[in-house]
Amino acid sequence: MLDDTILVLDFGGQYCHLIARRIREKNVRSEIVFHDITPTEIQEWQGKVGVKGLILSGGPQSVFEPNALKIDPEILDMNLPILGLCYGHQLIAYVAKGLVKPAMKREFGHAIATIDKPVGVLKKMGSKLKVWMSHSDTVFSLPEDYEILAHTESCPIAAFRHKRLQIYGLQWHPEVIHTENGVKMLENFLFGVCNCQPNWTMEDFIEKAIVKIKKIVGGGKAIVALSGGIDSSVVAALASKALGRNLTAVFVDHGFMRDNEPRFVADTFREFNVSLICIETRNRFLEKLRSVTNPEKKRKIIGEEFVHVFEEQAKKVGAEFLLQGTIYPDRIESGISKFSDKIKTHHNVAGLPEKIEFKAIVEPLKNLYKDEVRIVAEELGLPEKIVKRQPFPGPGLAVRIIGEVTQEKLDIIRKANRIVEEVIETAGLKDGLWQYFAVLTDTKSTGVKGDARAYGDTMVVRIVESREAMTASFAKVSFDVLENISSRITNELSMIARVVYDITHKPPATIEWE
Ligand code: XMP
Repeated sequence: MLDDTILVLDFGGQYCHLIARRIREKNVRSEIVFHDITPTEIQEWQGKVGVKGLILSGGPQSVFEPNALKIDPEILDMNLPILGLCYGHQLIAYVAKGLVKPAMKREFGHAIATIDKPVGVLKKMGSKLKVWMSHSDTVFSLPEDYEILAHTESCPIAAFRHKRLQIYGLQWHPEVIHTENGVKMLENFLFGVCNCQPNWTMEDFIEKAIVKIKKIVGGGKAIVALSGGIDSSVVAALASKALGRNLTAVFVDHGFMRDNEPRFVADTFREFNVSLICIETRNRFLEKLRSVTNPEKKRKIIGEEFVHVFEEQAKKVGAEFLLQGTIYPDRIESGISKFSDKIKTHHNVAGLPEKIEFKAIVEPLKNLYKDEVRIVAEELGLPEKIVKRQPFPGPGLAVRIIGEVTQEKLDIIRKANRIVEEVIETAGLKDGLWQYFAVLTDTKSTGVKGDARAYGDTMVVRIVESREAMTASFAKVSFDVLENISSRITNELSMIARVVYDITHKPPATIEWE
């Protein structure tokens, strides 16, 4: 049976991820697609999944800008339920030849919506609702086929629907927690308007993923790139169920791992029924990175070298397929979406060389967000030390050293990371945090150690909270904890003269520094 799916048309940035996440939380599959998807492309999706409706996301533009992102107008005639949110709401009105104009007053933040007609997406809503708005363009009138469902003080048409077709628009953002009953509005759309079945569950996902891996690899052999992180561990567990002895896990120690990582992986996976090869290739990677300072170049080199090591190992065991733990945000941030900028090259996606010697690269988790991977890991019975492990980037500590990577800097950053981990874990803070680590900058500053002047390196401490890494907040941990980290780093690492705490959210920063 095909998954009931909502396609989220991407009109810009993070909004569509939040919408996609909210839908999946209701056990309905969601996929982010280009805003200019054509009716034919939607038909193609229909062959792969059961497309039950479309959501047009918000976005930063005005429909009047010369290069404003638009939809193919024929999509409105496809007889598919459509919900436009914020920019999507204005766009439907604009395409339907309603009157959209810049508002007298920009509305940003809370507004009170008066519900004029509690039907469809607004079914069972009270007469007044606190909603979250962020817009300057406003819909002032609609063609006869449409009717008004809600208004606010400065927005005469804050919600509408088509009288016959299942087309809705909401000027506000139901996906943000500040909108009262926002989740209920999305539920109304999913289950009331689109008639979706809540069949996107991780149990189902596991069964389907195993069948898919078997189908692709057939009777052949595969290797899985195992880093010891949750994503690759889940892929290894799924693939071992699908392929049994035809699977070999390969752990490449590129020298940019955390303290004791190779041992952790070897010990953990000894318990699994997977044959594991551990390869030590430290000098090879370090050599390739000599004099390289550009972060994207570093990522690309490490990604390419990785694949070459895997190709060599695959030849040895006669494997033609490579499995890896790429997840949805890795692909989005590496720029697979036409209109979201490339943020950084996640080394397991765009870091791949153009020519590879594998028959296929299999990425069973490529459509999952991290929190969904965690559920899969739990369902598969992976040990807590893996399920609760903090994420670690593929290029490892190399992207936590600003500038050239050297053995000396690696030794420093490895120790600093261990200190941050020890302090946070001893303080019992681990479970509430997404990641906690150190970054070695290339900035020097003056200090005083003992009675002498010290001129040394600056270390950054980064501690963040997040649900799935698309957005993150710096953690407001206590000054006592930060003080403990700072004193230990400056005491135990003599070359560090200064420790600073990174107080930037994502966005605008990313979680890792490079
Ligand atoms: P950023 O720095 O992009 O990171 O905000 C988001 C999350 O992804 C992790 N990360 C990576 N994971 N390969 C990975 O598998 C990579 O190349 C990579 N780069 C960053 C990062 O640690 C954070 O959890």
